[in-house]
Amino acid sequence: MVSGPRCPPGLWGLLALLLPLPGARGTCDSPPRLHFAELPGEVNNSYPVGTKLKYSCRPGYILSSGKSRFVTCLENSKWSVEAEFCEGRRCKPFELENGRGDITDLRFGARANFSCDEGYRLIGPTFAQCVIMGNGVDWDTEVPLCQAIPCRPPHDITQGSHNGQSGEEFSFGSAVTYKCDPGLSLIGEASIHCTTKDHFNGEWSGPAPECKVVKCPEPEVKNGRKQSGFGPDYSYGNAVIFACDSGYTLHGSSSVRCEANNSWVPSLPTCLRTCDSPPRLHFAELPGVVNNSYPVGTKLQYSCRPGYILSSGKSPFVTCLENSKWSVDPEFCEGRRCKPLELENGRADITDLRFGARANFSCDEGYRLIGPTFAECVIVGNGVDWDTEVPLCQAIPCPPPPGITQGSHNGQSGEEFSFGSAVTYKCDPGLSLIGEASIHCTTKDHFNGEWSGPAPECKVVKCPEPEVKNGRKQSGFGPDYSYGNAVIFACDSGYTLHGSSSVRCEANNSWVPSLPTCLRTCDSPPRLHFAELPGGVNNSYPVGTKLQYSCRPGYILSSGKSPFVTCLENSKWSVDPEFCEGRRCKPLELENGRADVTDLRFGARADFSCDEGYRLIGPTFAQCVIVGNGVDWDTEVPLCQGLNTGTVIAIGKMRVILAVLITNLFIRQ
Ligand SMILES: *[C@@H]1O[C@H](CO)[C@@H](O)[C@H](O)[C@H]1NC(C)=O
Ligand SMILES: *[C@@H]1O[C@H](CO)[C@@H](O)[C@H](O)[C@H]1NC(C)=O
Ligand SMILES: *[C@@H]1O[C@H](CO)[C@@H](O)[C@H](O)[C@H]1NC(C)=O
Ligand SMILES: *[C@@H]1O[C@H](CO)[C@@H](O)[C@H](O)[C@H]1NC(C)=O
Ligand SMILES: *[C@@H]1O[C@H](CO)[C@@H](O)[C@H](O)[C@H]1NC(C)=O
Ligand SMILES: *[C@@H]1O[C@H](CO)[C@@H](O)[C@H](O)[C@H]1NC(C)=O
Ligand SMILES: *[C@@H]1O[C@H](CO)[C@@H](O)[C@H](O)[C@H]1NC(C)=O
Repeated sequence: MVSGPRCPPGLWGLLALLLPLPGARGTCDSPPRLHFAELPGEVNNSYPVGTKLKYSCRPGYILSSGKSRFVTCLENSKWSVEAEFCEGRRCKPFELENGRGDITDLRFGARANFSCDEGYRLIGPTFAQCVIMGNGVDWDTEVPLCQAIPCRPPHDITQGSHNGQSGEEFSFGSAVTYKCDPGLSLIGEASIHCTTKDHFNGEWSGPAPECKVVKCPEPEVKNGRKQSGFGPDYSYGNAVIFACDSGYTLHGSSSVRCEANNSWVPSLPTCLRTCDSPPRLHFAELPGVVNNSYPVGTKLQYSCRPGYILSSGKSPFVTCLENSKWSVDPEFCEGRRCKPLELENGRADITDLRFGARANFSCDEGYRLIGPTFAECVIVGNGVDWDTEVPLCQAIPCPPPPGITQGSHNGQSGEEFSFGSAVTYKCDPGLSLIGEASIHCTTKDHFNGEWSGPAPECKVVKCPEPEVKNGRKQSGFGPDYSYGNAVIFACDSGYTLHGSSSVRCEANNSWVPSLPTCLRTCDSPPRLHFAELPGGVNNSYPVGTKLQYSCRPGYILSSGKSPFVTCLENSKWSVDPEFCEGRRCKPLELENGRADVTDLRFGARADFSCDEGYRLIGPTFAQCVIVGNGVDWDTEVPLCQGLNTGTVIAIGKMRVILAVLITNLFIRQ
């Protein structure tokens, strides 16, 4: 088959590999070893391109339908091989009653794992494999059996029976129920069933119950009563529930059951007189768990809460008293004390020093607070202390006082100015200091310092010579007038000062207030008995003032006269003489007599007298007085009665009047 010089094939192959000689054709290595197929005969190391070989399927395998078992050496020196052209032969399927066989497939080499359903056990092999048998394949073993797991017959009991049949077979899942003879209690589980622990051997789920007489004693609880389960007899399983009488608390279980050993389980409860949970106190606490109920006589010990300490002579113990109340010493713990506080140039307002107290800090006038405004007495470590440092009261500082031109102040350079310190300014010679000479460091907001006012000013102030006509200086005679100089004026006689008598030279070179004037004036106008001035009267009136009088009551303006008066240039008032005259009363007539009147004016007096032979009956005189808005005589005119007529001298007033009337009548006739 190989062409070219004869050489040992191995050497040739080696040469062909090292130098591809001209004319040498490509080859394939030995064809692949396959687990499902083999090449009959010898296999060589090298085959020329184009060689075609035929595999045969190995035992247990069969040619897959539509696939080729030929391989060819290709131009690229590789064999063309169809994938898996032989496939495993198939074993026959099987069935396992009450169990199953786990298989991935049925092909040659497959494994079947056998297992049984719950309650069945495997008798036989646990697995089988699909192996070559003769010309084909088959399972290497028989299919096993799944057998129901059996239990032994259940135990018989004395004084009772179960419902299993004699000769019956008991297998997994089957159950029996026991029953006691009448009058006996069944102790334990009445029903048991067949089960298994190892999935192979059967056993009963529990022991057979017992049948016996159970009788528990009458349950009695002092200071308590039954709530359910009233007897009269108590046998196995009977339950009783108890409650305590009012004021008592149940200790133990309220519910008990009659057990097989003729005892109540758990043991009967007791009813104890009790207290409720001890009081919660803000200053003390109970260590450990606090219960709802404590028997009378229980003594508990409180401990003071953090920040508190036991008050001297008080007890931290409380006792549950017979009346179900706790005896508690009031406020037996007191707040621990913080140390006293001191604040220089300030004060700390504190009500007390105990735990929880608050100290408010404030500084004295002129000092400011640097630091916290308050502190609280809090728990620190095992004791109490203030929660913050004491602040600082610092003297409130002012900036250096402002400088002025043409003057200076008495503050030292580098001096520190704080609240209350003052400086005084001074002007250079010949200059006036305008404003406040001294200013001091003060504060408005109690924190920042400021000067009490602006710095004064230094300047030349010169007021003009002050002249007041008809007046003269009384003080301040010059000759020069500078800032603050004062002059006091007075007026010449006959003149009155108007304005301010005193003026000062101000910074704007002016007199303030402005210079007064001296005016010629009249004194107060004359008081007249017949006229008056409405409104007030002043001491001084300027020349030319015109005032109007009005006539007093009883007087009337005289015709052709003026009620006006004028302040004349000579400081005298022009007054029309008697410009009001008395009002006139009506004339008087007296028969057989006369009325002597000087005139009839207001104030006049009339004297009455009778002629010879008559006598005066009535008043002897009358006066002209104010009546209403006018004037009139203050009395009636009297009567002059003849002495020879009228013998009757009346005693009463009526008779006198009657006599006068009669007399007059006779006289007229
Ligand atoms: C393999 O080589 C040997 C000798 O070298 C030869 O006799 C045999 O026929 C060859 N077999 C095949 C399948 O080519
Ligand atoms: C059968 O059991 C064997 C060994 O426990 C395990 O390796 C295999 O995967 C199982 N086969 C199947 C199909 O469950
Ligand atoms: C009765 O049996 C119960 C358990 O069921 C046990 O706790 C109790 O101590 C027993 N009582 C007596 C008096 O033996
Ligand atoms: C509170 O009751 C529980 C159980 O009831 C008990 O263990 C505990 O000691 C009681 N605590 C006090 C303070 O009496
Ligand atoms: C401290 O200040 C607070 C708040 O202004 C006030 O309520 C408290 O009464 C003050 N305490 C004292 C001790 O002055
Ligand atoms: C001068 O200053 C005063 C106030 O000090 C003021 O009342 C007055 O009117 C000023 N006079 C003039 C002329 O400016
Ligand atoms: C008197 O002087 C006062 C103030 O000087 C003035 O108010 C009043 O009007 C004057 N009275 C008369 C009657 O001139």
